[in-house]
Amino acid sequence: MYYTSNCSFNFSPNTLLPKMLMNRISCTLKNDIVRSIGHCTEVPRNVNMEKLQHGYLFPEIERRELLHLKKYPHANVIDLGIGDTTKPLPEIVTSSMVDFVHGLSTAEGYKGYGPEQGEKAMRKAIADAFYKDLGIKPSEVFVSDGAQCDISRLQLLMGPNLKIAVQDPSFPAYIDSSVIIGQAGKFVDRAGKYENIEYLTCRPQTDFFPDLQTTSRPQLIFFCSPNNPTGHAATRKQLEQLVNFAKVNGSIIIFDAAYSAYITDDSPKSIFEISGAREVAIEVSSFSKFAGFTGVRLGWTVVPEELLYSNGFPVLHDFNRIMCTCFNGASRIAQAGGLACLSPEGLNALQSLVDYYMENARILVNALTSLGLIVYGGKNAPYVWVHFPGSNSWNVFAEVLEKTHIITVPGSGFGPGGEGYIRISAFGQRDSIIEASKRLKNLLYQKEL
Ligand SMILES: Cc1ncc(COP(=O)(O)O)c(C=O)c1O
Repeated sequence: MYYTSNCSFNFSPNTLLPKMLMNRISCTLKNDIVRSIGHCTEVPRNVNMEKLQHGYLFPEIERRELLHLKKYPHANVIDLGIGDTTKPLPEIVTSSMVDFVHGLSTAEGYKGYGPEQGEKAMRKAIADAFYKDLGIKPSEVFVSDGAQCDISRLQLLMGPNLKIAVQDPSFPAYIDSSVIIGQAGKFVDRAGKYENIEYLTCRPQTDFFPDLQTTSRPQLIFFCSPNNPTGHAATRKQLEQLVNFAKVNGSIIIFDAAYSAYITDDSPKSIFEISGAREVAIEVSSFSKFAGFTGVRLGWTVVPEELLYSNGFPVLHDFNRIMCTCFNGASRIAQAGGLACLSPEGLNALQSLVDYYMENARILVNALTSLGLIVYGGKNAPYVWVHFPGSNSWNVFAEVLEKTHIITVPGSGFGPGGEGYIRISAFGQRDSIIEASKRLKNLLYQKEL
């Protein structure tokens, strides 16, 4: 049964319907998503949007959570799925945003548009705080409304005609934004992969690093360290190999350092710690996870002057153009908060937040390993990557949700390389983490009986 806005009818191919409506209905059937037909425009759907598989991972998980709550309205659901922060912001950060906001209602404090690339002081503070001794100039730092938005703007910058490679498993935004911009071929169900995108398999057996010997020559390489979802931070040696690979093959690395604040060992926190990276890499990063700014929205991208296109033109100039045309500068309020984050007092307070989440990760890792499970991550990132060999990860997700009321993320949502795993986020409140550990222990203990 298909519905119009004010009537319903049984669809039969023999029904005499106007041709235009038939077209719309067959399109509706093909996509098997749209259930209502009101007024349709003559604008065709973007073919790249049509290629996208399912919903974006996290809305799909939310949908399942809602269904679960319908079934168990009184369940105390613990959400360790989407990696959203839960701890309040330090007072020094909020008070500086409040002061700025109050200033906006005064003649002296009012400010309109800011520079599209970010406030001068903010760009300098980022260069000083994260790239000290790495030679990054404030003019190479572009302040933004978050790393995910920058990933899409970088796709817009690079355009549709590039061959890209991504770690598998990896944060879904790299592949989805590649599909949207038109870099992907069709989705091959059997493989769980898009044509024309190279999936760089990163498994524990190879220390979560791809086999570069068998990798073709991608033009863009998305590489995230510490990786979401595996929690693995690439070693210096691995990143040296990656930079060398990019140099030999003429590729550009888009390095996502959104979780660098969580690194506890001597793994590099920035790709620019690697010699030669300035000629082959762009780095995106964010205040979301290290400062709890998931809702405030602030991030940045570093584009070094030495990074050039094949014709010798600096990438930085084009990225500047994209930021001016497609963005318009990060919120001044968020930047006031960001500046406070990077003050000595702010950095101290934020280190406590990072330590808190990493203690959560330690609790989860201990609980799961005590049950004999194979667990990765949790040492350099607030994600715990749990292996259930031979299992389908959506089934594990569903069983954990059904029996413990805990939301996790099925590993296959991060690419075919995530099949057999679930990701558990350590960004919860401590009491939820302790309760979740107990429930998981009970579930797995009962399964063994
Ligand atoms: C690897 C990675 N990059 C970027 C983002 C998004 O960051 P932002 O909140 O700055 O858009 C996330 C969010 O989960 C992430 O996991």
